[in-house]
Amino acid sequence: MAKIIAGVCSSHVPAIGAALDNGKSGEPYWQRVFSGFEPSKKWMEKAKPDVCIIVYNDHASAFSMDIVPTFALGCAAEFPPADEGWGPRPVPTVKGHPELAAHIAQSVILDEFDLTIVNKMEVDHGLTVPMNLMFGQPKEWPCPVIPLAVNVVLFPPPTAKRCFKLGQAIRKAVESYPEDLNVVIFGTGGMSHQISGPRAGLINSKFDKAFLDGMAKDPKKLTRLKHVEFMREAGAEGIEMVMWLIMRGAMDDDAKEVYRFYTVPASNTAVGHIILENPGKMGGKKKSAAKKPAAKKAPARLAAE
Ligand code: DHB
Ligand code: FE
Repeated sequence: MAKIIAGVCSSHVPAIGAALDNGKSGEPYWQRVFSGFEPSKKWMEKAKPDVCIIVYNDHASAFSMDIVPTFALGCAAEFPPADEGWGPRPVPTVKGHPELAAHIAQSVILDEFDLTIVNKMEVDHGLTVPMNLMFGQPKEWPCPVIPLAVNVVLFPPPTAKRCFKLGQAIRKAVESYPEDLNVVIFGTGGMSHQISGPRAGLINSKFDKAFLDGMAKDPKKLTRLKHVEFMREAGAEGIEMVMWLIMRGAMDDDAKEVYRFYTVPASNTAVGHIILENPGKMGGKKKSAAKKPAAKKAPARLAAE
């Protein structure tokens, strides 16, 4: 069966992408940011996921203000980089996993989460910057990706609690997929930042660090945070952190923190990053391969439910 082996959260600051694309990653300002992701890239090489689910937000690149889906699941075979105003980023096209994506859509919608199914979509820095941070700058991305776009741009975004519960439904969906796949789920965005208005430039490291602690030890507490608290404490764009809770809901309750990084600033934001592993689930494909005959019965069980 498929399983979620680990979860990764990271900010998705567009200027990080611009630094990479324009050969500026060696500058001291950017070195401070990128050095924090060196252990993460090594970790990712070892984790070798078969598929990643990346929870991110679109910044009016794929969706205009005409249509703003709350949760949009990318079910296409590929997702080209979007033109964000100065041309598409020079990153490889993101390959999808239409079979697993369709299975997740079916499972979570029947579980009463009314996702939007997206069969054609471009992806912006919200998705591609965390991929660069975790995979570097390869010619081709090493694994397929299922994008899950969340509205955090137009009020009202989904609540922290709803996001956590969607994560739980995603875990159930992945665990009922019969193929033996190791899945890593990303939550992206944040941490504290406010891009415009009188509070532009706001950073609240105390709030961010407490949020990182909560991700590791007490995520249920974080699900009680209201929109107004995120905005007051972490700035208007700090609301992006609700997406981290989709990742956390998809992880096991006893997931273990294996890495954390925090630095201020990168552009207007605090960069936060955490990696959680599900105990006993990293690697271990041989073990689940031995159980393959039983796994084959899963679709029949699902249909009978
Ligand atoms: C910035 C950060 C973001 O998350 C974003 O989507 C756009 C801009 C910034 O810090 O400049
Ligand atoms: Fe953003």
